[in-house]
Amino acid sequence: MAVHPKFQNQGVGSALVREGLRRTEQLGFKHVFVMGHPNFYPKLGFKPSRPMWVESPFSVSDEVFMVYEIQKDSLAEIKGKVKYPPAFDAV
Ligand SMILES: CC(C)(COP(=O)(O)OP(=O)(O)OC[C@H]1O[C@@H](n2cnc3c(N)ncnc32)[C@H](O)[C@@H]1OP(=O)(O)O)[C@@H](O)C(=O)NCCC(=O)NCCS
Repeated sequence: MAVHPKFQNQGVGSALVREGLRRTEQLGFKHVFVMGHPNFYPKLGFKPSRPMWVESPFSVSDEVFMVYEIQKDSLAEIKGKVKYPPAFDAV
C-alpha cells in the first residue's frame, strides 16, 4: 500500500485500510495478515502475530508481521507459518 507523499498524514492510508477490512469481512475472511510499519498498523487494530503462534514465511522482525482478527478469536485454534502466493517469492 502507498499514499502519494503529497497526501500522506491526512488519514488516507487509514481510510484505505478500514475500507479494505470492511470488504474483507464482507467476503467472509476471518483474519488479515500484513507485513508493514509497526507505527501505522497497530493504530488500526493490528497486533504482532507471533505471540499468537502464527509466523511470517519471511525473515523479518516480529513487530512488522501483524494480524487483524476480523472474527474474534479466529486464530485460537490455528498455529504455523503463513503461506503467500508464489509471486511474493520474487519480491
Ligand atoms: C504508510 C502509508 C501508507 C500511510 O498512509 P497515510 O495516508 O500517510 O496514513 P494516515 O494519514 O492514515 O496515518 C498517518 C499515521 O501513520 C504514521 N505513518 C505514516 N507513514 C509512516 C511511516 N512511513 N512509518 C511509520 N509511521 C508512519 C504517521 O506517524 C501517522 O501517525 P499519527 O496519526 O499518530 O500521527 C504512507 O505513509 C506511505 O505510502 N508510505 C510509503 C509507502 C510505504 O511505506 N508503504 C508500505 C506500507 S506497509
